[in-house]
Amino acid sequence: MTISLCPTIADDCAIIQLAKINDPRGNLTFIEGQNHVFFKIKRIYWIYDVPGGERRGGHAYKKLHELIVAVSGSFDVVLDDGREKKNFALNRSYYGLYVPNLIWRSIENFSTNSLCLILASEVYNQDEYIRDYNEFLRIRNET
Ligand code: TYD
Repeated sequence: MTISLCPTIADDCAIIQLAKINDPRGNLTFIEGQNHVFFKIKRIYWIYDVPGGERRGGHAYKKLHELIVAVSGSFDVVLDDGREKKNFALNRSYYGLYVPNLIWRSIENFSTNSLCLILASEVYNQDEYIRDYNEFLRIRNET
């Protein structure tokens, strides 16, 4: 997969099916860096204990790519490339949603006890964030 200069939802965002080892003792799923995700994983974080009705995200990243997995429970990832908006409902621990840079995203509609795991291509850097939607549109139009 190549990285577009200005990614779009239609061309660059996708649900990736991860391995699932079915076992009567309990199922198992795994992710190998540069195998299941093509970017180098530099950071892993997770969002949990989200109170009902709360929303996370509401921003885009300049360079960062990520894979979002509903390890437990369910939530919606709403993606926006400035032209198209699409809702991805995640509710299985063996699916990951790949989200490239320059895509506005918010995560909402968390079920009770849901666990949102995010594999990211960059370490945390607040300068990576685009938190203003108009600035997001301006950067996309200039890219
Ligand atoms: P933020 O990315 O804004 O959360 P979300 O997009 O899920 O709503 O991060 C919230 C706070 O946590 C912010 O003050 C920065 C801090 N933070 C870190 O220190 N390291 C991290 O890896 C992340 C994701 C956030």
